Amino acid sequence: MRAAAILVAAGSGTRFGAGQPKQFANVAGKPVVRWAAECLLPHVAHLQPVGDPALLGPALAGLGCLPAVPGGGARQDSVRAGLEALAPLAPDVVLVHDAARPCVPGHVVPALLAALARVPGAIPALPVADTLKRAAGGRIEATVERAGLFRAQTPQAFHYPTLLRLHRQSGATGLTDDAALLEDAGLAVDLVPGAEDNIKLTYPEDLMRLERALAPAMLPRVGIGFDVHALAPDRALVLCGVVVPHALGLAGHSDADVGIHALCDAIYGALAEGDIGRHFPPSEATWKDADSAHFLAHAAGRIVARGGRLANADVTLICEKPKITPHAAAMQARLSELLGVGPGLISVKATTTERLGFAGRGEGIAAQVVATVLLPA
Ligand code: CTP
Ligand code: MG
Repeated sequence: MRAAAILVAAGSGTRFGAGQPKQFANVAGKPVVRWAAECLLPHVAHLQPVGDPALLGPALAGLGCLPAVPGGGARQDSVRAGLEALAPLAPDVVLVHDAARPCVPGHVVPALLAALARVPGAIPALPVADTLKRAAGGRIEATVERAGLFRAQTPQAFHYPTLLRLHRQSGATGLTDDAALLEDAGLAVDLVPGAEDNIKLTYPEDLMRLERALAPAMLPRVGIGFDVHALAPDRALVLCGVVVPHALGLAGHSDADVGIHALCDAIYGALAEGDIGRHFPPSEATWKDADSAHFLAHAAGRIVARGGRLANADVTLICEKPKITPHAAAMQARLSELLGVGPGLISVKATTTERLGFAGRGEGIAAQVVATVLLPA
């Protein structure tokens, strides 16, 4: 059984609005129409896109689709154009799919193709769950019996010669799906289970639902970091990327920014990628007096390289002096800038140790950080 598919993408998306037709909007990193094509391609020998070739060419580049053919004024005309373009290839069966449906679960197409062994047409559909009302002018006229009502989705599957013949013969206009042609001709069309995620992008608010359905699942990973540097004369005090006026600075190989070092270690820990010393060995002269901003940029780059994002980081500086609170907002802003995230994700706070221990005696400053990174599951 040779299967082909038609992807109708010639609509203008008037209910959606926006500058370009909705099927070219980006969802979860790809144009909607590209997601839709990728749902069908594993199941068919040929995929015929219908719509503006200048827009479809780039959106479907590299997928191995047939060259796009222009559509018509109504959806039915666009389907017809696709069917005619496939005629030289004479497939046995054809799937007709809305380019505006980018999320077809894997079980749908095999169920449709299996049904075509029994009947000339099959569509995915879901039973209506809500109570239905007929209304006019905002007032209910009647309750509509819900039993036996289904919501039709695409892709819809047909014996190709049957659908081509019916489209050529049809005088009906304004049909919003292809099953209707078989129904009118008295031919059997079976239902297979549809899917709630098989959303048709119709209104702007559908974008959020699709984004959720298509975005890869992300799992939280928590990392912890801790660092200490000794206070020493003749050094600038750099904490969380901010120079803090103080009589003493922190001693160390780099600029000794204890806050950034602990933050880097928390991120490396969340990624299970070692610690700051592994990435920037203190034995290397390059890092002498280095700006620790460089280390944090590297840690942020590792998150991106793993396809993740930072969910939050909570930095605690531990020292008796200087007072951190007056500088906390600047530190938060600088860290967010270096990490490329909103300031709301980064917290900087401080505590003393009640004059106890090395921090209490003013011999050094410690920092403790917890960070959460979201990584693809
Ligand atoms: N379609 C098409 N040719 C048309 C009209 C619609 O190829 N003349 C396609 C759309 O691109 C979409 C699918 O048919 O993939 C379903 O149509 P619909 O959701 O109604 O899309 P639009 O017609 O673009 O949107 P609207 O009705 O809001 O203008
Ligand atoms: Mg329409």
